[in-house]
Amino acid sequence: SFLSSGYSFEIIEQMSNYIREKSQLRPRIAVICGSGLGSLADIILDSTVISYEEIPHFPPSTVPGHAGELVIGLLDGIPVIAMKGRLHLYEGYPLWLCSMPVRVMKLLGVRQIVITCAAGGLNPSYKTGDIMIIKDHVNLQGLIGNSPLVGKHDERFGPRFFPMNKTYDSHYREIAKRIATDMGISDSVREGVHVMVGGPNYETIAELQFLRLMGIDSVGMSTVHEVLVARQCSMRVFAFCLITNECVTEYDCNLEANHEEVLQTAEQRQETLKLFVTKIVAEMAKP
Ligand code: 6GU
Repeated sequence: SFLSSGYSFEIIEQMSNYIREKSQLRPRIAVICGSGLGSLADIILDSTVISYEEIPHFPPSTVPGHAGELVIGLLDGIPVIAMKGRLHLYEGYPLWLCSMPVRVMKLLGVRQIVITCAAGGLNPSYKTGDIMIIKDHVNLQGLIGNSPLVGKHDERFGPRFFPMNKTYDSHYREIAKRIATDMGISDSVREGVHVMVGGPNYETIAELQFLRLMGIDSVGMSTVHEVLVARQCSMRVFAFCLITNECVTEYDCNLEANHEEVLQTAEQRQETLKLFVTKIVAEMAKP
């Protein structure tokens, strides 16, 4: 066939069946842990841990800071499934494969998803350690014809054509802002527009200036493709970035982006993020 097709419904079903047999829990809420944010999954109790390698057709996670495990258990008493480590374009996986786990979770019964990532802060008012609630994105890959949704279409994963204007659930964003206020961290919680670039290199100054002109607040190497697949199959989405570093947009600045700083900021903010995610999941679980 001429068509790029991804995994068939039957293969995704086989993967979800494998996972279903490992745990009695039937989570409706999923959490994807971004770079250095795998510790978010450590607060899940009574957990079943399934490594990506053992799941049929599941590719391994190859990035330091990304464990490559599914964790199914209870977060503050609420059944959740967490991805500890995600798949990235820069690992060499096509976009449809990077976002395939979202379809597996859909077949497992997931209806609501929390997607997290590490990102560079491009908005000049952002500081390292800020949490940016994603209110919208610019799908750079998609705008030039690269999407996890191109190719052979299967209605069982949702409609071919669908709107994106209500993608980042406004109710969840309101909840998150209220929680931030209750936690006393509202000064470091922002709301902005995210972009995904291919990576693995960080951006040039000219690229960052270009992205800023497009109205971008945070720059990362993930999330957008997962959000697309989640929305196609009508999951409700809450997404946020941890701003792990400030983007360098001036030529006479000696700072340089690096993965160690990304992981270090994530490490420093992990306790706050654990509490933030726990409280949001508790609210999302309410009918
Ligand atoms: Cl500055 N850029 C990108 N693309 N991803 C990042 C980042 C920057 N900082 C953390 N992740």
